[in-house]
Amino acid sequence: MSTPSPGSAPFTVRTTALTTLLGEWRHGGRAHAELADKLGLLLIDGRLRSGTRLPAERELAAALGVSRTTIVSAYRGLRERGILRSVQGSGSVLELPATGAQDHSARALEIDFSKAAPAAWSELPAIAASALERLPEQMAVGGVDLFGLPDLRERIAERFTERGAPTSPDNILVTLGAQHAIALVARTLLGRSDRVVVETPGYPHALDAFLAAGARLVASPLTPSGTDASHLAETMRDARPSLIYLMPDFHNPTGTSMPDADRERLLSVAAATGTPLLVDETTAELDIDRGRTTTPFAALPSRGAGVITVGSVSKTMWSGLRVGWIRAERHLIDRFALARPAADMGNSTLDQLVAAEALPHLPRLLAQRAVQLGAGRDHAVSLLRELLPGWDVPDVHGGLALWVGLGAPLSSALAVSARARGVTITAGSRFGIDGAFERDIRIPFTAPLPVLTEGIGRLAEAWESVGTGRRGPVLEPALVV
Ligand SMILES: Cc1ncc(COP(=O)(O)O)c(C=O)c1O
Repeated sequence: MSTPSPGSAPFTVRTTALTTLLGEWRHGGRAHAELADKLGLLLIDGRLRSGTRLPAERELAAALGVSRTTIVSAYRGLRERGILRSVQGSGSVLELPATGAQDHSARALEIDFSKAAPAAWSELPAIAASALERLPEQMAVGGVDLFGLPDLRERIAERFTERGAPTSPDNILVTLGAQHAIALVARTLLGRSDRVVVETPGYPHALDAFLAAGARLVASPLTPSGTDASHLAETMRDARPSLIYLMPDFHNPTGTSMPDADRERLLSVAAATGTPLLVDETTAELDIDRGRTTTPFAALPSRGAGVITVGSVSKTMWSGLRVGWIRAERHLIDRFALARPAADMGNSTLDQLVAAEALPHLPRLLAQRAVQLGAGRDHAVSLLRELLPGWDVPDVHGGLALWVGLGAPLSSALAVSARARGVTITAGSRFGIDGAFERDIRIPFTAPLPVLTEGIGRLAEAWESVGTGRRGPVLEPALVV
């Protein structure tokens, strides 16, 4: 998300595109305030970039089926918060204020709760230095690599085998992270208007990847305890989807795990309906204290169902190491590799050398992560329960975040108010389709404990101001930059 320099040309969002982004923005309150909140949220979470010119008031009113006064009031509200500038002759331009710029106290600390990603594993620098020694031998060849270095494919395959899913390196394609893997699967297998069944809430960028491939999403809601296997099975039979996307372990954002019995049931239905399963294991190994083991989909009898598994080192080792993978049948691996050059020319040799060197240490790394994530979770849970007793804070046993119930449809308003206090956080609606989940918010527990303390303290203040109708200092006119 970039803030254009003064005088740079605004980017105009088309009215139809804006209507889609707004989704279900009405929640029974005052329409102009809800619209302003939603527009502010789209700006804060980057779906509308700073410098975006909004449609003319009359045009947006017609598209949304509301009065022009509603739009005028919504735009006025945004102007008063300091995030909309009206420029003579160029309409109304959304602009992100520079937070903290006027405050030299502890407030100047920007806190990013929008990313659930831990800092790099402490041993990674030493491992990277050692991996670097193997670079010269790789440099004897051209470096273009669509499938992945043989050593790395072997180690990824070994890890699947250790987890109960015997795997050959030929069944592994190395990718630039799990998101790349999901997008590659989507654009290779999906055609325009194909249906993809997704659990909601879900990981937003996976949903974006399916939409970008031209697919339509069919939602299957999670229950408070996780997957609703009956609903999923029914949806697979009724909607005849081309793909079903699942996050069986430490689902992002809810942190839930799918019981083995549900996995087996879904495999049977997938086999019967011919629906391939795309299983996202990016967060699968982040067990803190679940106290039971689950079986990877790839390790269960497939009964003839097609199972494609994706994963990465992002959440275990470091998100800056862009290494992920796809495990699939050999003919699919070839198709995915062949589809790559239209969008990418293959893997980074250096990143792969580091990942290959680090993978044999994964069990030790995971034990350390469990301690670290457990400390973050415990700290966040106790602070939230103390400072925000009205919120519903779940017990999670793995993953990176808490999916917290607010008790009111104020997630977007909270995100806007938090931003004014130097905390960037993603509202619940980003994890749903069409604006659902306004009553929830995802709070990651990956930051160092003092940052969690400060960030959750500011969230409590932001919540208080949302509840009392005060929207916080930075978005008020005095702080327009
Ligand atoms: C469930 C899930 N899938 C995929 C990704 C993307 O991961 P990567 O950084 O490996 O591209 C993430 C990252 O947050 C995730 O949580």
